[in-house]
Amino acid sequence: MERLRFFATTVIGLEDIAAKEVENLLNGKVELDMGRIVFEGRPTDIYLLNLKARTINKVFIQLCHSKFVNLEDIYKLAKSLDYTWIINPEQSFAVRTQRLGLHNFTSMDVSRVVGQAIIDAYTDAARKRLKVNLDAPDVEIYCLVRDDEFLMGINTTGSSLHKRQYRVYNHPAALKPTIASAMLKIGGYSSESFMLDPMCGGATIPIEAALEARRIPPGKWRSDFAFLKLKVCSPREFEKFRAEILAEEDLKNSPVIHAMEKSAKHLKGGMENAKKAGVYETINFKLGDATRVEDYPDVKFDLIVVNPPYGLRANPKEGVRRLYESFLKTLRTKFTDATLVLITAASKRFKEAAESVGVAVIDERKIWHGELLTSIFTCKT
Ligand SMILES: C[S@@+](CC[C@H](N)C(=O)[O-])C[C@H]1O[C@@H](n2cnc3c(N)ncnc32)[C@H](O)[C@@H]1O
Repeated sequence: MERLRFFATTVIGLEDIAAKEVENLLNGKVELDMGRIVFEGRPTDIYLLNLKARTINKVFIQLCHSKFVNLEDIYKLAKSLDYTWIINPEQSFAVRTQRLGLHNFTSMDVSRVVGQAIIDAYTDAARKRLKVNLDAPDVEIYCLVRDDEFLMGINTTGSSLHKRQYRVYNHPAALKPTIASAMLKIGGYSSESFMLDPMCGGATIPIEAALEARRIPPGKWRSDFAFLKLKVCSPREFEKFRAEILAEEDLKNSPVIHAMEKSAKHLKGGMENAKKAGVYETINFKLGDATRVEDYPDVKFDLIVVNPPYGLRANPKEGVRRLYESFLKTLRTKFTDATLVLITAASKRFKEAAESVGVAVIDERKIWHGELLTSIFTCKT
């Protein structure tokens, strides 16, 4: 079967976690780049990754990766490609460009030049002028211009996979599910783990754990994948594939997953999200304060994964340090030798709190959560 070159985008700082996940899913080698991973696969891997991958944002079929000097080079590179195997003559397309570095042209210029090159190449090959539709194209072409590097690919995903369909309650400080899933992987989560999120908010972390434990693919609820319109994919083949993947679900598995939250409103919202994700009955929800030993469930947890407040909104920074200290003290009192995986943008405050309480930080990994530089800490209680 034909092999394709792919790249997939992920959160900057989580490339190795995404690479490992894709290596496991495809049983092949994956290379790392900044904010993306690169690999080879079969056309059907488009279905597999979009349905099952938990830590990537979008999957692209790579069309071109080359050095360039000026816009004319970019035109020549894009014009030299064959698009007839991927776009039907009656389909519309759009080019979206991301530009990083210093150039004497804009990202709009790149989109315009590449768009013209695609029209010219298609007209030469198939005697048909393709339509451009910038608002709702059938096929979206992505270009990255980074310094003297030009990368071009076809978006097989559509909108990012981090937008899980189960989020009916939007917590104001919700964590991206792809990051939640990566944190679980960092903590070595398995369906055998005794896992707790003691500040669960909208329950992203416990829901991602339950989906993983029950082998429920996070793309299960999506029907708007961009690949459904690509010439290399077939909706019928996808339906068959999807049915096979859904047959792997293990809905009888009862993992030990607990979620605690001090706000009744957020707890209720988290429960709604869990219901929508079909994992409500696998998660033990509890109203409680993570700084109070007596509020914790009487379970010997071995993994605590948490996204506490960063102190950027309501709490001033000193307040957040006090919260971190009192939370870590409580964890130390209640659990010995548990792994704690915690994400925060207030990394200095967290490190000060960990040091003053005597919690050992084993690892700190910097990642971008949207516009915010955050750290994922791995600690032992
Ligand atoms: C950043 S949010 C968590 C968001 C969540 N990960 C999500 O994706 O929806 C932090 C949550 O911690 C809760 N919280 C703050 N202090 C707490 C405490 N002492 N005990 C329990 N929950 C607390 C807040 O109410 C808030 O919902």
